Amino acid sequence: MQDKIRVLISEKDIERKISEIGAEISRKYTGRTVHLICVLKGGAFFMCELAKRITTDVSMDFMSVSSYGSETASSGNIKIIKDLDESIEGKNVIIVEDIIDSGRTLKVLTEMLQQRNPACMEVCTLLDKPDRRVADVDVSYTCFNIPDEFVVGYGLDYDQKYRNLPFIGVVEF
Ligand code: IMP
Ligand code: MG
Repeated sequence: MQDKIRVLISEKDIERKISEIGAEISRKYTGRTVHLICVLKGGAFFMCELAKRITTDVSMDFMSVSSYGSETASSGNIKIIKDLDESIEGKNVIIVEDIIDSGRTLKVLTEMLQQRNPACMEVCTLLDKPDRRVADVDVSYTCFNIPDEFVVGYGLDYDQKYRNLPFIGVVEF
């Protein structure tokens, strides 16, 4: 690891917050099945930890999208790299994201999935950079709001590296 990485949110703080969100989702969906949709690859670590803390029935599916254009500024044009395996019709969908930056990717994604007629659809994100928001998106559960800094770890990468860090860190370029 050549880059210097400063801890922004510790593993302990992340886990405590995920437990709170998991409990909130469990209360809200008691007696119903929650269908978690992971947006790959960044959302994978968060979704696994979240799923373990939900006490009502959970089903899971995975989707991979890429936004055209540069990596650091998403354009809002998204391409499906891997679509869901199952239909979401009539399901209580929660989209699980690593981070919401401009919100463009999520806006296009939620509009696309809404057309598939889920019973309901919410968004749960590990991180949010509200200062960077361009597209108007409705986020039901946010673990942490963070300042406009480039972060890695807990699923988030810099050039495909550092996803496996157990904390959220800032790369000191
Ligand atoms: P948006 O469409 O601008 O909201 O793009 C969000 C996506 O950009 C996330 O799913 C990440 O893949 C990526 N991203 C945004 N900010 C960061 C960051 O600080 N670290 C790592 N990836 C980021
Ligand atoms: Mg993402």
